[in-house]
Amino acid sequence: MTLHCMAFTRAIDRASQLLPSHSSVFYHVRACFLTPSTASLLFNRNKISSAVCGSLYTDNDDTGFSNPRVVPQSTINAMIEEIYGELAVQSIQGEGGAARVRQHANPLKKNLMGPYYPPVWAMVFTNPKLPLSVDIGSGSGRFLMLLAKRNSGSSNFLGLDVRHKLVERSNAWAEQLQLKNMHFITANATIALDSLLATYPGKLTFVSILCPDPQFKTRHYKRRIVQRPLVNAIMKYLAVGGKIFLESDVEEVVLDMKRHFKEHLGDSLVLVKKHESTSIEEKEWYPENPTGVPTEREVAVLGRGLPMFRLLYERV
Ligand SMILES: C[S@@+](CC[C@H](N)C(=O)[O-])C[C@H]1O[C@@H](n2cnc3c(N)ncnc32)[C@H](O)[C@@H]1O
Repeated sequence: MTLHCMAFTRAIDRASQLLPSHSSVFYHVRACFLTPSTASLLFNRNKISSAVCGSLYTDNDDTGFSNPRVVPQSTINAMIEEIYGELAVQSIQGEGGAARVRQHANPLKKNLMGPYYPPVWAMVFTNPKLPLSVDIGSGSGRFLMLLAKRNSGSSNFLGLDVRHKLVERSNAWAEQLQLKNMHFITANATIALDSLLATYPGKLTFVSILCPDPQFKTRHYKRRIVQRPLVNAIMKYLAVGGKIFLESDVEEVVLDMKRHFKEHLGDSLVLVKKHESTSIEEKEWYPENPTGVPTEREVAVLGRGLPMFRLLYERV
């Protein structure tokens, strides 16, 4: 079995070299075709826990990966417990929190085109004057939930996602966890961010766009999250010293996001570098998730032993 796994791992590695990393074929092949044992092998290589490994194959982890045939539910549960156990979300799931949601939603759907109005901040946050972190494409919301829990009293956290069911569930979790520094809004962030932040009374200090949907087809590029209106809104509100954190396992997607921020580089944005040994050659990639909390997608990608391409910018 081990030999079989090693051969399979080599085949995957070889396929990775042959197919351009931005090809949708490559993306889906690598998303679906690892077996749990092969993944465990990759895991051991990367010294990450095998429990997390199972997350690669779930069909309900909101990450876009789908191969329920090879993932036992127990492995999925173990992953959730290990990474997000601190939130005690399992009991919440038991109360119907694990609603099935569509893997993808079209951000250009009519009902997502606005107009958007900001919430009454004092209704959603205990102290609306605290510094604000915004996670764009917040998915399941657990990434933000952990951050909110760990930074309660010092920061507010806002998650934006086009998938209404996920947003509803995240807000229900926030309520049950009594996190009064976290809120989620259903929105196409690309066009909504400017209006939503217009009345926030505190400073915007952190924006994350983590593993956005790649939208590989050229005709779908217009659905990509990072477009000029979003960049303009971020640059309008981000405080000096504030950070923008971008990441994806698809290199081309991060390079595309970078292209949109390029006109601000050197002038009002600087790239934060941290030169540590990294398997990724290009030195400007930030080697780790600076928040210390992985997103669900990130856990899956790292668990597979695949690279994550990260950029960290600071407003100057
Ligand atoms: C691949 S998931 C990544 C979720 C999470 N950030 C993670 O890393 O696990 C991308 C998320 O972005 C959301 N999304 C796509 N386009 C969006 C848009 N224009 N505005 C807000 N959210 C969007 C999707 O619904 C999905 O939940």
